[in-house]
Amino acid sequence: MGRFLVTGGCGFIGSHLCARLERIGHRVRVLDDLSTGRIDNISDTTELIIGDVADPQCVARAMADVDGCFHLAAVASVQRSVEDWLGTHRTNLTGAIAVFDAARRPGGSAVPVAYASSAAVYGDNEQAPLSEDSAVRPITAYGADKLGCELHARVATLVHGVPTCGLRFFNVFGPRQDPHSPYSGVISIFTDRLLSRKPLSIFGDGDQRRDFVFVEDVVDHLLASMESMVDRPRVFNVCRGQGTSIRELAQILGETLRMTPRILFRPGKPGDIRVSIGDPTQSIAEFGIHASTTLHEGMRHTVDYMRPIIAA
Ligand code: NAD
Ligand code: UD1
Repeated sequence: MGRFLVTGGCGFIGSHLCARLERIGHRVRVLDDLSTGRIDNISDTTELIIGDVADPQCVARAMADVDGCFHLAAVASVQRSVEDWLGTHRTNLTGAIAVFDAARRPGGSAVPVAYASSAAVYGDNEQAPLSEDSAVRPITAYGADKLGCELHARVATLVHGVPTCGLRFFNVFGPRQDPHSPYSGVISIFTDRLLSRKPLSIFGDGDQRRDFVFVEDVVDHLLASMESMVDRPRVFNVCRGQGTSIRELAQILGETLRMTPRILFRPGKPGDIRVSIGDPTQSIAEFGIHASTTLHEGMRHTVDYMRPIIAA
């Protein structure tokens, strides 16, 4: 059994990864600045370093004596990157370079790094579905920085011998995604508002489409990518290959909760991608797994998790 560093481990996806790693017998160290993550998302047995992923000394300390690193710390909101370009860049790209740099072991075995990239790298490429070979055309600072992570991962692997694998997550959802921030994911916000009997806001016409993938399926891909590291830099989509419009999403969630959502249409957001649907063929071929949880199943897990919290 090994010891793994999870940056951003107190966050939504990171905390599910930590729980799984511990369940299968690994030791886990988390580096997190708690900006959006929460201490109570991780267990008492998880080692926690509270610090900034863009601080090289802090990252070097966190990287000591680990067998692998899952780099998830980032400002995950596309809209925040529109509003705070430089601030989000520091975390989202400088932080990734700090991680790759600390993973180097001149003269020894470097620490393998599996890291979160994003479907946002495809930007305004409306091809559907998008494969790893599709053109990358980011239209936000967030997407540009995630593409920057992939480019610096190439450098880490090819120049510095750090094994890397990037995962282009599409829209991840599930329990523990924080609904109380306007910057959070749409499913957690809509579920919270419906359960609280508040209207939903749809930005734009609601015909923008997303490929929603359940968080436990994402954890499966993170573990598989760490197990199949090679000495070439690689990136894979993590998606289901099925698109759902935001308008349909509101309707499906209403059906799941047996409620009729009240919808307020608001002006569209700058940098909001129109169509984002991935092709999972390459990750299925490489990892032998696919994101099998349906939107309905995943929503039921999410609702079951959120209902008692909102009722309390
Ligand atoms: P999250 O906000 O719940 O988790 C991010 C974590 O990183 C939080 O715990 C936060 O406190 C921590 N963090 C932020 N800035 C930091 C810093 N400077 N130093 C140390 N820790 C810091 O978001 P998430 O949805 O769990 O996203 C995890 C990763 O997956 C991110 O890299 C995100 O860009 C990526 N991603 C998420 C989605 C999605 O749909 N949720 C899709 C594609 C990619
Ligand atoms: C999400 C992720 C981002 C990831 C990307 C990959 C979050 C917060 N963001 O960005 O990290 O890289 O997927 O595809 O998890 N919307 C509404 N009403 C709301 C909230 C959102 O209409 O109340 C709309 C948005 O305008 C957008 C869609 O829903 O068109 C999805 O928004 P969001 O969940 O924030 O995700 P992305 O911006 O796609």
